[in-house]
Amino acid sequence: MTRLSIEQVDRCAAQLLASGRRPRIAVLLGSGWSPIVQRVADPLRLPYASLPGFPAVDLAGHAGEVVMGRLGEHEVAVLCGRRHAYEGGDAAAMKGAIAALAACGVEVLVQTNAAGSLDASMRPGEFMMLADHINLVQQSPLLGETGSQRFVDMRHAYDPSLRAQARTAAARLGIPLHEGIYAWVLGPQFETPAEIRMLQRLGAQAVGMSTVPETILARHAGLRVLAFSMFTNMGCGLQDETLSHAHTLGVAQAAAPLAADLLETAVASLEL
Ligand code: HPA
Repeated sequence: MTRLSIEQVDRCAAQLLASGRRPRIAVLLGSGWSPIVQRVADPLRLPYASLPGFPAVDLAGHAGEVVMGRLGEHEVAVLCGRRHAYEGGDAAAMKGAIAALAACGVEVLVQTNAAGSLDASMRPGEFMMLADHINLVQQSPLLGETGSQRFVDMRHAYDPSLRAQARTAAARLGIPLHEGIYAWVLGPQFETPAEIRMLQRLGAQAVGMSTVPETILARHAGLRVLAFSMFTNMGCGLQDETLSHAHTLGVAQAAAPLAADLLETAVASLEL
């Protein structure tokens, strides 16, 4: 379990603020979404390793740095890389990062991920905005928190007003944007066909190994959340293919330019 002292969060926030930047939006990049970084104006790079409480990340395609800059008129902090619960069993691995961003005045967390599709109408290479999630792992990044604030209301985990704005941005670009429910599985193994059928019956349209802990952390910190999945594959057994991380990254790479268009426009046009 990640434990943080107030001093550690304050030190990290002070370091972020020393950059002179004042982001109100943080963007957390998952597999396939990193080309957005090239669209950040006036970039300033801060390695996670230099920021107290930020995690060590070591997965291919995850750089482990914060890029401060602008998307449209908005000052943003783009987080390149997350530490997943499957890497060390810690659902609170991103706690320090999110707490420090909140302490610096960040108000919105925009999350991105790669996911498997559970719905025949949502194809690899397409995008889904999260309308809700299922914490199937039933782990919480808030274990060890005290006080009444830990009983976070999750009714509007994914902010309805931000979602409406993202819907409009996607329509303007002509990028189809599905909406649905994301089920969090621990991984790192992919699901079995029986597990995929179970997730379908539970009412989920997407399955993935991230995002949910960070949404909980962000809501606990008072941030509003918007989240996008990029489908890299159909859920195991729904299509005759063998799943692998290389396959995920390959499809993600092909969809990356469109993902960057969607994310850039969605973030730049947000009215907070
Ligand atoms: N399952 C879980 N996580 C994933 C998948 C999947 O099929 N594809 C990308 N991330």
